[in-house]
Amino acid sequence: MSTSLAWDERYRGGGFQFGEAPNDYLRAQSWRWRPGMSALCLGDGEGRNGVFLAEQGLDVTTLDWSGVGVEKARALAARRGVPLDARVGDAAAWAYPEASFDLIAWIYLHLPPADRHAAAQGCLRALKPGGLLVLECFSPAQEGRRSGGPKLPELLWSRAIAEAEFATLQTLELTEGAVHLDEGPRHQGLAEVVRGVWRR
Ligand SMILES: C[S@@+](CC[C@H](N)C(=O)[O-])C[C@H]1O[C@@H](n2cnc3c(N)ncnc32)[C@H](O)[C@@H]1O
Repeated sequence: MSTSLAWDERYRGGGFQFGEAPNDYLRAQSWRWRPGMSALCLGDGEGRNGVFLAEQGLDVTTLDWSGVGVEKARALAARRGVPLDARVGDAAAWAYPEASFDLIAWIYLHLPPADRHAAAQGCLRALKPGGLLVLECFSPAQEGRRSGGPKLPELLWSRAIAEAEFATLQTLELTEGAVHLDEGPRHQGLAEVVRGVWRR
């Protein structure tokens, strides 16, 4: 089972485990938001996606349970000269503020089913009406591949799980299939993912 201490250990070494550039799918959706909007990046690790959104002029909060990751996210934001409200916390137990975010980015956050449901419910509460949720996570077909992802199959996403968790939102895009990842040392090569965008 993954723990915050295990993630602290991974992040403690030099370099960025998933690179400093944002996730490609998140970047490709950029046309959907504008400077001044508010964003939440869940499980943002070393901050690549939160800092990217802050550079686009969004008012960004990030959440990760790894204190080491959050410190690196703050340092990356400082180095790039952008504000970032980077917080340490458990995505399954966080006090999601009501109708507070124009955008929530859920990028490669893999949680046990009960925690995933709790975090998804938190996202539904925290999105403003009209707000967007962008998700990219590994799917069951990723099992056995070496391009990244959790060891436990129950942590993987599927199109059906996404449809169930976000059934009350409007689905703008939802796909499950193969992509090529080039994201730091931990996400390299052909990978099987779920990608989606929803609007509250
Ligand atoms: C695969 S990494 C992805 C990091 C980041 N989203 C990215 O794409 O660069 C997964 C991240 O989820 C975080 N994480 C896992 N379980 C968590 C939880 N329950 N609450 C908050 N963060 C969690 C880990 O600490 C780690 O930073």
